[in-house]
Amino acid sequence: MRFPEYRARRMRRNEILRRMVRETRLSVDNLIMPLFVRPGEKVRKDISSMPGNCQMSVDVLVEEVKEIAGLGIPAVLLFGIPEKKDDIGTEAWDDDGVVQQAVRGIRKANTDICVITDVCLCEYTDHGHCGRLREHPRTRELEVDNDATLELLRRMAVSHARAGADIVAPSDMMDGRIAEVRAGLDDGRFDYVAIMSYAAKFASAFYGPFREAAESPPKFGDRRSYQMDPPNVNEALREVSMDIEEGADIVMVKPALPYMDIIRLVKDRFGYPTAAYNVSGEFAMVKAAAEKGWLDEKKAVMEILTGIHRAGADMILTYWAKDVARWLAGK
Ligand code: PBG
Repeated sequence: MRFPEYRARRMRRNEILRRMVRETRLSVDNLIMPLFVRPGEKVRKDISSMPGNCQMSVDVLVEEVKEIAGLGIPAVLLFGIPEKKDDIGTEAWDDDGVVQQAVRGIRKANTDICVITDVCLCEYTDHGHCGRLREHPRTRELEVDNDATLELLRRMAVSHARAGADIVAPSDMMDGRIAEVRAGLDDGRFDYVAIMSYAAKFASAFYGPFREAAESPPKFGDRRSYQMDPPNVNEALREVSMDIEEGADIVMVKPALPYMDIIRLVKDRFGYPTAAYNVSGEFAMVKAAAEKGWLDEKKAVMEILTGIHRAGADMILTYWAKDVARWLAGK
C-alpha cells in the first residue's frame, strides 16, 4: 500500500463510508449482565463503588431480569449474598439458598433468558476464601484445600442446576473443578447444563469493587495461591486447555482490559466460545472519570467493549450491559 494510490482517509470521510468498512460490530447478543441477589423482600441496596448496580432481593431481581430480557440481552450471571456464612460455605449448596430461589423465581416468571450462576464459595465462607481451608501439612499455615473444595463446588453446581440454571460458571480456580462439576451434573441427569469456566482468571486489583458488592473480601491473605499470576501467558493457555479437556463449553478470560492478548490467543488457539469479564474495577474507573467530567462515558464504554469483542471475545460480562443494549437500539 503506497500513497497516493492508497489513501486510507478516503473511506473515513463520513459515517456511511465508515459503516461500510467497519470490521467489528458489537451486538446486544454479545452481552451478559451480572447481578447480585440477597435475602429479603423489596430490597434494593446500592453498591457505592459500582454506581447504578445494587444488591436485590429475589422479588426485585425477577423484575430486573424481565427488564433485561426486554432489552434483548441474552443472559444474566447471578451472584449470591447469603443469609449466613460459615467456614465451609454451607449455604452455597442449600436448595433454598438465595441464588437457587432467584433462579426458580426467574424460571417461574417465564422470562426468556439464559440464567448463568457463579459457582464459588467466597461469598459463602466466613473467611472469604474460595474454598475449604486446611493447615498446610508442613508449614501449618492456613491455605485453601484444593481437593476437599471440589466436592463442595460440585454440590453447589448441582443445586443450581436443580433450581433451573442453564449454565454454571465456576470462578474459584481450583484445579480439576471442571471435571468434578461436569461429573456431578451428569450424575444428576443435568447433561444439558453447560459450563462456562473462568479458565484464565488472574489475581487482579480490579476485583476491588466487586468484593464490596458481594461482601466477599478474604479475611486474611489474598487469592494469589489459586488465581493466576498476571504476567503469565503460557500458563493461561494451559489453564484453558485443561478446562476444555475437562468439559468446559465456554472459556473465560478475566479481567478483560489488561489481558486482551490472552483473549486473542485463547480465541485463535482453541476456537472455542470465548467470554471476557469486564470486571468491577474496569467499570468503576470509567464511572469515576466520567463523574469528574474527564471522560465521555458512552464513547469510552463503546470503545472498550468493541475492543474486547475485537480481541476475540464472543461474550462480554459487563455491568454496562443494559446501557449498551439501549445505546445500540438508539435509545
Ligand atoms: C468470585 C468472583 C470474583 C469476581 C467474580 N467472581 C471476585 C474474586 O475473585 O475476588 C469478580 C468480578 C468483578 O470484579 O466484577 N470468586
